[in-house]
Amino acid sequence: GRPADLAGRRLVVSAGGTREAIDPVRFLGNRSSGLQGYALARTALARGAEVTLVAANVTLPDPAGATVVRVESALELREAVLKAAEEADAVVMAAAVADFRPARRNESKVKKTSADPDPIHLVKNPDILAELGERRRQGEGPSPRVIVGFAAETDDVLANGQAKLARKGCDLLVVNQVGENLAFGTPDNAAVVLASEGGRVEIPRGPKEALADVVWDLVAERLA
Ligand code: C5P
Repeated sequence: GRPADLAGRRLVVSAGGTREAIDPVRFLGNRSSGLQGYALARTALARGAEVTLVAANVTLPDPAGATVVRVESALELREAVLKAAEEADAVVMAAAVADFRPARRNESKVKKTSADPDPIHLVKNPDILAELGERRRQGEGPSPRVIVGFAAETDDVLANGQAKLARKGCDLLVVNQVGENLAFGTPDNAAVVLASEGGRVEIPRGPKEALADVVWDLVAERLA
């Protein structure tokens, strides 16, 4: 069994991938399954935590005991995470949030015509993780003591990861090694966790639950 070392802790986990509407039937999306975020929620619950799971377009069963908030877009995910974060000890942003969204959503389905289609203009989405860090830095209202981000990097993993950790103002950054049947949609994952104070923990390839437990070990250490 797992230790109840997160008993009484209020944790927020975002999971899945956002969808950015083009029209009522179409969206820009990504391949995130939500498996890692759900594994984080299940393991935290097993360790005694109260978990709010902000789930973007995930088709997995709700973890028993979690408060699940379903969202679709990055803007909806932002609202739900920022609200839950006000009462949270820690936030883990495992969701794949779209960096861009279509500038406007068509009211009706875009029709196929003989002419070339109109281009889709994109605008930037807010960076929710960076915003959590910035709000805490500014001392704007109650903030989580521990903020954790995820990042998928293909090359210069450590250098890019370290730079991203600083840029986002988070405490821990879980850098996924992308490729070779890892990460998206698979039960296994491998990563290196970078800490703001400079340390790093390598997590060998294994089930997403195992990676989740290492993340919670590091969070519990910081909350102790
Ligand atoms: O910058 P990048 O997308 O690589 O950062 C990934 C991390 O930032 C993840 O933790 C993701 O949940 C978070 N993120 C966010 N808001 C965005 C984009 C990413 O919170 N708009």
